[in-house]
Amino acid sequence: MPRPRVTVIGAGNVGATAAQRIGELGAAVVLVDIVEGLPQGKALDLAQAAPVVGQDVQIIGTNDYADTAGSDVIVVTSGLARQPGMSRDDLMSKNAGIVRSVVQQSVAHSQDAILVIVTNPLDAMCHVAMEASGFPRERVIGMAGVLDSARFRTFIAQELGVSVASTSAFVLGGHGDTMVPLPRYSTVGGVPITELLSAGTIERIVDRTRNGGAEIVALLKTGSAYYAPGASVAQMVDAIVGNRQMILPCAAYLQGEYGVDGLFVGVPVRLGRRGMEEVIEIELTDDERAAFDRSAAAVRELVDRLAEMAAASSTAAAPAAG
Ligand code: NAI
Ligand code: 2OP
Repeated sequence: MPRPRVTVIGAGNVGATAAQRIGELGAAVVLVDIVEGLPQGKALDLAQAAPVVGQDVQIIGTNDYADTAGSDVIVVTSGLARQPGMSRDDLMSKNAGIVRSVVQQSVAHSQDAILVIVTNPLDAMCHVAMEASGFPRERVIGMAGVLDSARFRTFIAQELGVSVASTSAFVLGGHGDTMVPLPRYSTVGGVPITELLSAGTIERIVDRTRNGGAEIVALLKTGSAYYAPGASVAQMVDAIVGNRQMILPCAAYLQGEYGVDGLFVGVPVRLGRRGMEEVIEIELTDDERAAFDRSAAAVRELVDRLAEMAAASSTAAAPAAG
C-alpha cells in the first residue's frame, strides 16, 4: 500500500520537528522551505536518523512545490516570529502574505489535500488559508487546542503525580490569552479534576496553560516552543491519514455551532480521512459560555483587523484615478 503523502511547509523548528514525527509514523514526507538547502539538509539528516531508530523513513527536502504534488495533507508552519520593532499588525500582515502564498502554491499541486495550519496568529491564518485555497471547511483545520490541552494535561499530571496517559483535557476558544481551559471536562482516570484538585490549584494551572506559549518564549529568548507543537501536529496528521475518527480540540470554521458563524475557533472536532468530519458541541455553563464568547470575540477582532489591513493595502496598491 502506498504511504500517505504529507507536505510540511516551513523547515524551521516546528516544521522539522513535525516532519520527524510524521516520517516516523510511516508517511512519506516532503519538507519545503523558501531558504535553499535548509529543507534538503534537514531532510537528509532526518533520513539518516532512520537506521538508528530502525524505521524506513521516507523524507525529501525541496524548494519546489512541484515535488509536493499529490499530497494527502499539507501542514503550514512557514512564517516569521515577532522581531524587535515589529508590531503585532506587522507580524500578522507578513505572515498572512506568507501563508497565502504557500497555500496557493501547494494546493495548485494537491487539490484534494487537507490543510493543517500552524502559523501564528493561528485563528487568523486559518481564515487566510481557507480563502487562499478555496477549500471547504472540512479541509482547513488549525492546530492549537491539541497543544494547549497537552500543556493543561502536563500540569494536571505533575500536580497529582499521575501518568499523563491517565489525563484528558479540553481547551476551547482562540489560541491566545483568552483561550478557555475547561476543568469540568478535564479528567484523571475519568474523574473530573474539579473532584481532585482545589479551586485555587485549578485556577493556577489554568492560568499557566493560558500563558504556556509565553512561558517558553521567556525561557528560550530566541524563539517559541516546537517539541510539543511538532508532536501535536503529528497527532492531528495521524488522526487524518489513519482515518482514526479521533476527537481532538482544533481550530474549526464554525457555521452556527456554539452560536458562532463564519469564524475559526477552537472546539472539539472528529478528525478522520475527510479532515474535520464533525464539530462536537458540548454543554457549557453560563461562565464557560461567557468565556468562550469573549474568546470568539477576540478572534473576530483579529480577523476584522486582518481584513482592514488587506483592504488598506489594496487601496494603496491601486493606481490613482485620472
Ligand atoms: P521558525 O522561524 O523556526 O521556522 C519558520 C520557517 O518558515 C523558516 O525556516 C523560514 O525560512 C520559513 N519560511 C518563511 N517564509 C517562507 C515562505 N514564504 N515559504 C516557505 N517557507 C518560509 O519558526 P517556528 O518556531 O517553526 O514557528 C513557525 C510558526 O508556527 C510561527 O508563526 C509560530 O508562531 C507558529 N507556532 C504556532 C503554534 C500553534 O500552536 N499554532 C505553536 C508553535 C509555533
Ligand atoms: C505556542 O503556544 C508560540 O503559539 C505558540 O507555543
